[in-house]
Parts: sequence; structure tokens; C-alpha cells
Amino acid sequence: MKKDLSNIKKAKYLLDNNHCVAIPTETVYGLAANAYSDKATSKIFKLKKRPKSNPLIVHYSRVQDLRKDCEINSNFQKLYSKFCPGPLTFVLKLKKESKISKNVTNMKNTLAVRFPKNLVTRNLLSYLKYPLAAPSANIYTQLSPVSKKDVKEEFGNKLKFILDGGNSKVGLESTIINLVNKPRVLRLGGLDIKKISKVLKRKLNYKTIKSTKVPGQSKFHYSPGIPIRLNVKKHYLDEAFVLIQKRKKFDKNYFYLSKNKNLKEAGKNLYKTLRNIKRLKFKKIAVEKIPNIGIGQTINDRLKRASKR
Ligand code: TXA
Ligand code: MG
Repeated sequence: MKKDLSNIKKAKYLLDNNHCVAIPTETVYGLAANAYSDKATSKIFKLKKRPKSNPLIVHYSRVQDLRKDCEINSNFQKLYSKFCPGPLTFVLKLKKESKISKNVTNMKNTLAVRFPKNLVTRNLLSYLKYPLAAPSANIYTQLSPVSKKDVKEEFGNKLKFILDGGNSKVGLESTIINLVNKPRVLRLGGLDIKKISKVLKRKLNYKTIKSTKVPGQSKFHYSPGIPIRLNVKKHYLDEAFVLIQKRKKFDKNYFYLSKNKNLKEAGKNLYKTLRNIKRLKFKKIAVEKIPNIGIGQTINDRLKRASKR
């Protein structure tokens, strides 16, 4: 714990001085900077090689801090009390008097916000006088990192500090819901939209929006950098084969997301497995059919994007 605190102090020192620091969250690791600072947030885009047009999610530990930046409504309150801290991001109306940097919103009048669950990051946020803007800590279009080692692999020595908070427990990015008007799901993620539907007492559908005008929904994303084939029954000899359920036969090309079709477990293992396959220098990936229910929908969404070239 003592060591932990000294790492948090180091992260705070760097963030207070407008540097970027990678932070652990339960979804994926984030590349964080002071959301109120133009100088700090511009470094995120540079490090990630991310287009400036793609807005960032801002992370808070307390609702009272969020109130300074956003208009809160009853749908937010219902979802917050049920799921936060947790893998859910809200798009809300930005307040005129908010100090959020224009880099974060790309001049829009909405803001994406979330309350991460990882205790190390919650602890860090409680010491700061500003919220943290943080996209996933990977180079633009690449796989999101779920451990300190993964972040290191993405940025090498270009990043001053990675705050270690263990492996991400959810392993998939947050679900994004726009609450400015009628609730609308913008991205499938670590929280099943059926659960959100239940709390809001309304049906929520997610339709893939083809237009790249919707930020971050570009078709080619979450890529391990090698070709992926989906819904495969039998793999070729040169393919790593990703499976959702244990098979009787042993094969050195088999990589399991879960022993017994547990989709939450599979979600947690997805990016870790794809990264591992890449580390082992496979040139191609085949993936068994994943049931398209619950978190399986999110897994399929990510795999589909990753398979586009
Ligand atoms: O789990 C997560 O959400 C992780 C962790 C680090 O919090 N973050 C993450 O950030 O996945 P990023 O930047 O990789 O994806 C955020 C998505 C982007 O697609 C972005 O375009 C969208 O959120 N977004 C941000 N602000 C928005 C806004 N005001 N309206 C609509 N979409 C927004
Ligand atoms: Mg990302």
C-alpha cells in the first residue's frame, strides 16, 4: 500500500505539470491528462496519433465534481446509482461555464463522462483538483491495453509513467449511452445494454452506424495488426484459432477465451489473447463463432471491426 501511494503521488506530480500518465481502469488502461488543460490534453492526441476530431472521455470520482461541467438529468441519476462506478460512459450536455478543454470536446456542446471502478485510479482522482481526460492507452486503431505491460508495448519510452493497477477486470471498453435527449447507445461495451434497458424501462437497440461522422466508430479499429477470419469451424495450419469453449483435442494453435462459453470471461480475455497471439508472431487469426447475446454482442462488434482491412 505504501508503494502504491508513492506511485499515485508520482502520477499526480506529472499530471499537475501537464504530462500524460497511463492509468488503470476496470475496462482498459487509459492515457490520461488534466481535462481542464489545453496543453496537457493536446499531448494525448500527439502520443496516440489520434485525429483531433475524435473527442475524449472524462473520468471523475465524484458526482459533485461532474456537476461543475455537465447538466445532470434523471436518466443519469438512475443509471449512476445502479452501475457506477463501472463500465458505463454517459454523453451529457456540457455547461457553458465548464473549464473542460476544447481539445476534449472538439468544440461540441456535449461531454462523455465516466466513473471508473479501479481503486488505484479512484484514489488518484480523489487527490486531483481536475478530472482526467483519457482515451484507451493504445496507438490509434490498435488493440486496447489491459495491463501495464500492454501499455508499455504501445508507447515504449515515449510515455513518462504507467500507474499499475493490475489487469483490467472487464477487459472491454465502456458502453457509451447518449442521455442528452432520448437515450441512445453509441457504443457496445463492458455493460450489457439489456441491463441498462431494464433500469430505464425502455427498449434500447444498438445499430452500427456506418458513417464515420460518429466519432470512434470507424470501421477499422481494435486491430491486432494481422488478418482475422470470423465464424470459423476449422482453422488452417498457419492460423491461431480463438475458441470460446474447450475442445477435447489438443492443438498448439488453440487459444481459449473461456473454458465453457462464459461470455464475461471471454470479454475479459479477448484483447489479452489477441495481443498474445501477435506476440507469438502468428500471421493470421481465425475465430470460432461467438454467441451474439449479452457481452457476446460486444465481443462480436470488436472482432468485426478488427477484421476489416
Ligand atoms: O472504457 C473506456 O471507455 C476507456 C477507458 C480508458 O475509460 N476509454 C475509451 O476511450 O475507450 P476512447 O477514446 O478509446 O473511446 C471513446 C469513444 C470514442 O469513440 C469517442 O469518439 C467517443 O467515445 N466520444 C467521446 N466524446 C463523445 C461525445 N461527446 N459524443 C459522442 N461520442 C463521444
Ligand atoms: Mg480507443
